[in-house]
Amino acid sequence: RQRHRLLLENAEQLVLVCGRREPYLRRDGANRLCLLRAASLVVGLDGCIKAVGQADVIRNEFSEASFERIIDCSGKCVLPGLVDAHTHPVWAGDRVHEFAMKLAGASYMEIHQAGGGIHFTVEHTRKATEDELLATLRQRLGRMLRAGSTLVECKSGYGLDLDTELKMLRAIERARRSTDIGISSTYCGAHAVPKGKTATEATDDIINNHLPKLKELKLSGEIHVNNIDVFCEKGVFDLESTRRILQAGKDIGLQINFHGDELHPMKSAELGAELGARAISHLEEVSDEGIVAMARAKCAAVLLPATAYMLRLKQPQARKMLEEGVIVALGSDFNPNAYCFSMPMVMHLACVNMKMSMNEALAAATINAAYALGKSDTHGSLEVGKQGDLLIINSSRWEHLIYQFGGHEALINYVIVKGKVI
Ligand code: NIG
Ligand code: FE
Repeated sequence: RQRHRLLLENAEQLVLVCGRREPYLRRDGANRLCLLRAASLVVGLDGCIKAVGQADVIRNEFSEASFERIIDCSGKCVLPGLVDAHTHPVWAGDRVHEFAMKLAGASYMEIHQAGGGIHFTVEHTRKATEDELLATLRQRLGRMLRAGSTLVECKSGYGLDLDTELKMLRAIERARRSTDIGISSTYCGAHAVPKGKTATEATDDIINNHLPKLKELKLSGEIHVNNIDVFCEKGVFDLESTRRILQAGKDIGLQINFHGDELHPMKSAELGAELGARAISHLEEVSDEGIVAMARAKCAAVLLPATAYMLRLKQPQARKMLEEGVIVALGSDFNPNAYCFSMPMVMHLACVNMKMSMNEALAAATINAAYALGKSDTHGSLEVGKQGDLLIINSSRWEHLIYQFGGHEALINYVIVKGKVI
């Protein structure tokens, strides 16, 4: 007789975040969280959700003996695992000294142009071995998981030269194969212009040397890379170099997912919409036309409230994007400049500083973040057939996940990936 991996029984609130009709939520996200009360959920042996419904109905349908594990969720809430659509978790050498410089008044770009910032991290990452990078990456992924993220994007981008970029991507690939958290991997060799090169030379190197090698490793199955990223910014990669690199990445089958319109208006949003980008991150300085173009192109906006907060940037116009029908997602942007692992804190900042509702923030950190990674058919909501990635929180109202600012390890009772309790 048929066996099942897990039964979550009788949750006070079970938040489905319905993404059936469309694989993402727009403005009406607020009305489509689909909250069930006194509800249960079944995960099959394949790690996918097998049934969701009223607790008494599920009780009648499945025999207790068929479950490997049963968790009583009385008085608790069940939510989809959180999805972090933007992280830089592979690097050596932190930048706590730069945090002090920024508090004393230095800007992000001043530090970058003086040879610090990304350049500082590149220097240390080049010296680290693949095993060292993997060890710290695994610790960081573990902390993300404990904060409720079950699927995260991971970028390279602190090598800039081919060898170090590949070392980073290999570390990500090894983590992907050996940890429970889901990973979408991003090649970000155009994260900065390496010292001693012009932007045009760096662009040519990426297109002529990096991408053909990536294509080869991707085809052989040695390294899975999903997305291509560029830091499109004044003094880094201009619009034309960005266009060339992203198009070349798309040509080898990568999804376009890049940094744009963060510190200066660059028309990155317009470019992304034109190239068919899956997602663009930051967007503090996006134009009105860019917002409309992204809505039309179904290009997700990945907003990073922790970075805007820590760098004291202008807040991205989340309300305007939502009203125009942009698919708004969230990411932690975990990196040595913005040391935040926690998507619950990111959702809180999105609500307080960017004026999103709690429903919108949850949709942005689940189904819409999954959409930004091209994974909303399998992740980001609790629906039959999707992967059984879930959180159980020790509260009778799900909003506590956003309302509480920090200390979520005590609120989150269980993090579950593919029906397996972590
Ligand atoms: O998303 N803006 C560019 N990239 C990162 C920062 C990386 C770094 O400073 O190390 C970001 O904020
Ligand atoms: Fe970033």
